[in-house]
Amino acid sequence: MGIGRLSDGLAPTPPMGWNSWNRFGVKIDEALVLETAEAMVSSGMRDAGYRYVVIDDGWMAPERDRNGDFVPDPSKFPRGIRALADRIHELGLKFGIYTDAGTKTCQDLPASLGYEFRDARRFAEWGVDYVKVDWCHTDGMGPRALYAKWAMALHATRRPIVLSICEWGRSRPWEWAGVIGHLWRTAWDIQPEWSSILTILDRQAELHPFAGPDHWNDPDMLEVANGDLTADQSRAHFALWSILAAPLIAGNDLRTMTDEVREILTAPEIVAVAQDPGGRQGRRVRRDGDIDVWVRSLRTSGRWAIGVLNRGPDAREVRIALEEIGMDPRADVRVRDLWQRADVGKTRREIVTATTANSATVLGISAE
Ligand code: GLA
Repeated sequence: MGIGRLSDGLAPTPPMGWNSWNRFGVKIDEALVLETAEAMVSSGMRDAGYRYVVIDDGWMAPERDRNGDFVPDPSKFPRGIRALADRIHELGLKFGIYTDAGTKTCQDLPASLGYEFRDARRFAEWGVDYVKVDWCHTDGMGPRALYAKWAMALHATRRPIVLSICEWGRSRPWEWAGVIGHLWRTAWDIQPEWSSILTILDRQAELHPFAGPDHWNDPDMLEVANGDLTADQSRAHFALWSILAAPLIAGNDLRTMTDEVREILTAPEIVAVAQDPGGRQGRRVRRDGDIDVWVRSLRTSGRWAIGVLNRGPDAREVRIALEEIGMDPRADVRVRDLWQRADVGKTRREIVTATTANSATVLGISAE
């Protein structure tokens, strides 16, 4: 492929965690973040693989201090960021923070242009493990050079810190960001609506060659359980992000989530697809009216995950020839429903599955 990539081992599989933005916007504070971290543990999410607790835009005070250092908003984080990160580490979790590469954040708060090394050093002192660097207020600047500067600044701290690049896919970051950061946004901001999930999904169809260990396409954080998404839509969103080898960064209120939501976010066989150590991103093999078929090849040879997405309002039966997913049509294959965690049976030549409106079935396929 000729595409360089990082291989520092910080994100061997796509990062998993939680970020404050999708549900809380700038209304964040120490209590929310700590309660969220505790909920991540008590809900079983930590044990399911979720690690990073990330505060997004809105954590900083409106001015830097006299030395030019970032100051956390004292009304939101009165004990500072270091104390918060310490608590999160004590829970067996990792801590992430947000800044912006330009002159101001997307919420017009102080950002990092010209302060990259100073801010990286400060983040490292605070115990930060993950930095999301946004792209507002960057008129005339080149993302490649500026994010490379960020990579150098983080490297110079000697603390292992994941770099999350967030320029929304404008300058085809999949072609250059793999040597610079661990993940990069591929699309504009997600919304908690079915149409937004589908629009973003469609933008991912050609991006599978660019992802792998330590360098992931990021179709944006999860909206599972947010807005007016139904449970089936949330499940479909989660399943497709897993097949895409996308980072799984929950964006809901973990403190109050229902059992149904918790079961989506921790579904063991879906998360196992997302975190498959082969790190190969899935691709779309069929786009036909309301039906999409997405396939991800797993590390164990002869094993695949298939996502059958029904975008529309009607139940449909879907037939998938083994040839369509690149399998030998004469092979005997075993089929398992990864949401239900139940074997479906054996088949040859084709797989037949039923789908309901606005949902995704996920099948695990193994050659005998
Ligand atoms: C941009 C990013 C979002 C979020 C907001 C915060 O829109 O894409 O993910 O970080 O900024 O202001």
